[in-house]
Amino acid sequence: MKVVKSIADLHRELDAFSSGHIGLVPTMGCLHRGHMSLVEAAGKENDATVVSIFVNPTQFGPGEDLERYPRDLDRDCRMLREAGVELVFAPAPEEMYPPGFYTRIDQEVLGAGLCGASRPGHFSGVLTVVAKLLGICRPDRVYFGIKDAQQAVMVTRMVRDLNMHVKVRVMPIIRDADGLALSSRNRYLSHDDRLLALALPGALDAARRKIEMGEKSSRVLVREIRDHIVQTPGVELEYVEIVNLDDMQPIDRVTSTGTLVAAAIRVGGTRLIDNFIVGEI
Ligand code: PAJ
Repeated sequence: MKVVKSIADLHRELDAFSSGHIGLVPTMGCLHRGHMSLVEAAGKENDATVVSIFVNPTQFGPGEDLERYPRDLDRDCRMLREAGVELVFAPAPEEMYPPGFYTRIDQEVLGAGLCGASRPGHFSGVLTVVAKLLGICRPDRVYFGIKDAQQAVMVTRMVRDLNMHVKVRVMPIIRDADGLALSSRNRYLSHDDRLLALALPGALDAARRKIEMGEKSSRVLVREIRDHIVQTPGVELEYVEIVNLDDMQPIDRVTSTGTLVAAAIRVGGTRLIDNFIVGEI
């Protein structure tokens, strides 16, 4: 496995794979089984896998956790080597954003609600860096987790809208045994906060069971999730929304053709998101 930091070195390495299919897994590092599930899928479907590790400054807002975001390149590389990854691209911010970098990609409609409402500019930063990574790595397939559902939907739409020549593959959420979705930010949680954080998957599970029993009203389901979370002292609900997966617009009734039920909480200063989908992705 080669670890490269510059775009020129990456291109030199990629030339060796010019005849095969390339899978790209964009990450911000501090890898866990969620990331590794994407790496595994890429390994199965392509001749070579490139994993990018870049804590992208443009997707963090003022006062967010850019400086303290966990970084551990050595550990990440050990995990990726064991998984049989061919190439790791770990650029410095100056390599990605040299002086005179002006372009930003925006997608106001899909980015207005959910995480976009509480993190202004976040998705513009995500789309811009993903577009750059696609341009730099020129993969045949790129892998995202539905854990960050709004991100996955927005990237899929960007690829379609801008006629980018890549197939976006969206993979399921990987959870710990207690139900908490894996996230690099789970590292911030104390033992007690982690127990409180289980209110999030618990609330979503309660809503899912209601849907299975026939409940379709978004109002009722949102109330169910909200009640569940506000009952847990120390947990603050940031949002709960039920939207159409295709255009991220709120819907009154759950449909079986792609409804996203998503929520975000704050516990002990850490922001966590989770969701589930009704119907097909
Ligand atoms: P990061 O948070 O490191 O996540 C990288 C990828 O791993 C994303 O596609 C995310 O959805 C996926 N992922 C995270 N937790 C997961 C889980 N529990 N199960 C399955 N997949 C999971 O998302 C980003 O980085 C950045 O925004 C990025 C796309 C790299 C752009 O900077």
